[in-house]
Amino acid sequence: MHMFLLVALATATAWDVELACLDTAEWSKYHAAYEVAARATALEGSDRAVSRASLGKELLARTSNVTEVLSCNVGVVAGYYLLAHLVSQEVKSMNPGNIFGLKPFEHRTGLAYRLLQLALIFIFTLRNANRIPSGPAQAWGVTEHHIIPALLQMRRGQDEWLKNHVQRLQPISPSFRDPNLNIAIVSICAYPADHPLVLPKLTPANRETYANRHGYALRVHLEHPIIGAHGLGVQHAKLATVLAYLQSNEFDWVAWLDCDSIIMNMNRTLDSIIYQYTQKRAEAEMEAGLKEAKNPAPVCGEKLDMPDLLIGEWSDSWVTDDLREESLIRIRRGELAMDSSAVWAEAPQIGLVQGEVQGNQLEMDFGDAKLQAEIQWNITGNGAVELLWENGARWVHRVDHQSCREPCRAIGPGCDSQLLDPEVNLLITEEGWGLSSANWLIKRSAWSMKFLHDALTAAHVELQLFGDQDAMILHLMNRQALEVVQEPSLEDATLYQDPLDAHAAVIPQFELNAYDALNALTMECDAFVEGDLLVTFPQCKEAEGCNDVFELAAEYANDDGKLLEPDAGAWWRRQESTPKWSRYSQLSSAALRIFGPRPLIREVYTQEQQLRKRCRSTSFCMRRADAAHLLTF
Ligand SMILES: *[C@@H]1O[C@H](CO)[C@@H](O)[C@H](O)[C@H]1NC(C)=O
Ligand SMILES: *[C@@H]1O[C@H](CO)[C@@H](O)[C@H](O)[C@H]1NC(C)=O
Ligand SMILES: *[C@@H]1O[C@H](CO)[C@@H](O)[C@H](O)[C@H]1NC(C)=O
Repeated sequence: MHMFLLVALATATAWDVELACLDTAEWSKYHAAYEVAARATALEGSDRAVSRASLGKELLARTSNVTEVLSCNVGVVAGYYLLAHLVSQEVKSMNPGNIFGLKPFEHRTGLAYRLLQLALIFIFTLRNANRIPSGPAQAWGVTEHHIIPALLQMRRGQDEWLKNHVQRLQPISPSFRDPNLNIAIVSICAYPADHPLVLPKLTPANRETYANRHGYALRVHLEHPIIGAHGLGVQHAKLATVLAYLQSNEFDWVAWLDCDSIIMNMNRTLDSIIYQYTQKRAEAEMEAGLKEAKNPAPVCGEKLDMPDLLIGEWSDSWVTDDLREESLIRIRRGELAMDSSAVWAEAPQIGLVQGEVQGNQLEMDFGDAKLQAEIQWNITGNGAVELLWENGARWVHRVDHQSCREPCRAIGPGCDSQLLDPEVNLLITEEGWGLSSANWLIKRSAWSMKFLHDALTAAHVELQLFGDQDAMILHLMNRQALEVVQEPSLEDATLYQDPLDAHAAVIPQFELNAYDALNALTMECDAFVEGDLLVTFPQCKEAEGCNDVFELAAEYANDDGKLLEPDAGAWWRRQESTPKWSRYSQLSSAALRIFGPRPLIREVYTQEQQLRKRCRSTSFCMRRADAAHLLTF
């Protein structure tokens, strides 16, 4: 193996043909570090750590001028991939049994996850339909087949973590407004006058209604703005435009919204999103980001996940006080994680009995009789959860008798800018394949302007194959992740913490970027739920099939009479379900596409896929498939 490497290095032409890498001293040095690290995957401990650190150092040097990546593109992808592999091995050795970690880390794999995202943006620059050409792929020992599925799985872990994290923050009502905040909404809806898409007609009005409702400034460009860098391509106008508005000093925050996102809940404020997600990180989390902190009290009105709510100790109101301790009932989950509705209860007076949760009903089989109980969340009283049995018995959950937390509804004590972390400047979402540049919020600050400027330079000057999204990803995590990788020993904390720039906060996708139900299904991410701020339609570029969908969304948005529950859109109320809107119909494909619900659209989608497969060749079926185009892309 070693001999072979020396020979390969000596014959320069073979070297650069196989590896698709420019034959320079810098890339040879990089390749050598890569080879050492590749062998180190089989090693333990400090040898592995040394070669990991040295590859990280080389990769950072090789990517600091991003133009140069193109002279050894596959090698760069391979570098990130190998580093992620080395890091995941460390995750695995700390948590054997699950390569992506186990609780109490909530499946978070921060460092490996970010490294794979970086690998992906350089798979895009290969411009080869997301595939690594097989020759160099083999020479470097890298494959895209592992990268994308691993990213999807790790994102689920990040989501879990985020869900847990938000529960520890002060809840903010979706209508919260800070009148001192000066917010601008910026969009570019530049389409030629005869363009068949209805978006340039719908979106500006949709933005205007919303901005007027809350007193936000609105800057919708119907033509490509000529601001920022000279000769700027349309592709990078987003970064330049937002940068120009930050530089104008007129606004505290700028919200960038893509033209194909339609605001659906006019009552939902941007302030509420800013206040919810730029909060100072909890003390305990700062320490390590890991320790299993106690669950905070639920938010008043929170929809809790039923089986979880039942787990723990219960006291039976029929038992007298002196016997209470010894007759506590313990409820736990079923043994099989798959069977999420099964629970077990155990106590001396009942033995071990099995039960099942359906909605807010619990049924238990006590041997001589099956009994039903209603699960009640006692909001008015002590905040405890109670089981009210049909025979009159009452079990009370011992949950420290904490009461629920009221969300902030307006500026006031405990609900003001003291909550906020001045360091958090960017709120952004992430979907299947990484951070999204579709809709985001950015604060006026020196950091933000430098960040946008650097990203713009990367995409516009240094590597024009980059979209604005790739450039943002590069500047939010490349140096940050590759510096962590160089640490001689990676502790639990560094492995799990997200190396994303601390000025940016990833927020739940549904807050700024909920997908239409069909795309949410195929891309396994958050679907629009009534109450969400907006809906976005990735992949909807054709007038036929898409205009109906956009028009229905705008109609929903404009319907002031629609009934939304209090705090609709709040994370603690949100649940996918059948929409309640009076004009929703399951027979309308536009309605199904926007609102789902997910089980129904899954069924329709699967049927159509089967139909397509069965009769791909006949013209009759082609026409059927055309009609199906309404639902598929
Ligand atoms: C980056 O690399 C390219 C290609 O080698 C080169 O032309 C350019 O001058 C470099 N940029 C900087 C800032 O060094
Ligand atoms: C809720 O809690 C209060 C205070 O502990 C109690 O008086 C009341 O009976 C409880 N509600 C129900 C439905 O049991
Ligand atoms: C929006 O807020 C207004 C004013 O508070 C209220 O009257 C209206 O019912 C709300 N609309 C929805 C859809 O929640």
